[in-house]
Amino acid sequence: MDYSRKIAERLWNMPDKGELESCREETFIDDIIQKSHIEKELLAHLGGIRTVFDGGAGCGRFSILLAKQGCEVTHYDISQPMIDKAKELAEKEGVLDRITFVKGALEDLGDFKDRSFDLVISFDAPVSYTYPNQEQVISELVRICRKRIIVSVSSRLGYLPYLANPIQKNQFILDENCGDPFVRWCVDNRENALGAFRFDKNAVTKLWNEGLMGGEDEIAEYERGGTPWCITYTFMPDELHALLERHGVRNIQMAGPGAYARTLPREILVKIMNDPGQRADFLAFCHRYDSNPFVCGMGKDNLFAQGEI
Ligand SMILES: C[S@@+](CC[C@H](N)C(=O)[O-])C[C@H]1O[C@@H](n2cnc3c(N)ncnc32)[C@H](O)[C@@H]1O
Repeated sequence: MDYSRKIAERLWNMPDKGELESCREETFIDDIIQKSHIEKELLAHLGGIRTVFDGGAGCGRFSILLAKQGCEVTHYDISQPMIDKAKELAEKEGVLDRITFVKGALEDLGDFKDRSFDLVISFDAPVSYTYPNQEQVISELVRICRKRIIVSVSSRLGYLPYLANPIQKNQFILDENCGDPFVRWCVDNRENALGAFRFDKNAVTKLWNEGLMGGEDEIAEYERGGTPWCITYTFMPDELHALLERHGVRNIQMAGPGAYARTLPREILVKIMNDPGQRADFLAFCHRYDSNPFVCGMGKDNLFAQGEI
């Protein structure tokens, strides 16, 4: 089995993963913006959609949303803690009977027949965690899709600025005193991270050329019994567009959720988020700006793409 998959399996099956991931929209502004963008797109494209496959569905942010819209959803994920959390949330929302939960890896979609689902979705980068099988996974997602496919994967142009910004996540913390352990770490380590920073030409060149975040160090940590972050394949916009087209997707539209917000300082973002009226207007404008294909590569983490079969 590939290391990426073994590493993803160990990371996402950590017992607290479901609980932590389900709070991301209360914790980080970039997550609010990304999920809001995806939600707007999903709700705008539900005409003629009855069955949905959600690959890497996590704790159900979108599988539950679509079940509430009356769709019949297959919620597919490699992590039991994420599935358990999704079941708990689906029950609370009264849609447990409209969702089929399946534990499995995106690399193993062979049991699903061609064109089995009207809509196939996969959000917030599960495809990027399947390196070196990302193209095969996309071709399988297209194969099982009848009408529309919508995905978001890790963005190479979006990630490159992080290599020159060790405090990039601090910009998007909603409440510094919220008690989330990662938020605490970002706040407490800010000065150290700035002090230790050196621009690393080799690292940016390597990511630009190869698209891979992580590799040998993560494999060594995994072998020592640790839980490194996933080896992540980042896509260029033209690369993802060409790949989808090659596998038969038409009328492709791309977007970069977070492109507008990443230009603003944290103080302004927090002020907007804490005022319900401004927040709704801002999220609507972010959706419009981030949908411009010329900014799609500069989405905060994700490159968003959709098209028809
Ligand atoms: C960042 S979460 C996104 C969850 C959800 N799609 C959302 O947007 O809220 C990534 C999810 O992908 C799942 N995942 C990672 N690698 C996977 C793989 N190879 N096959 C299936 N699921 C995977 C993880 O367990 C996790 O639930």
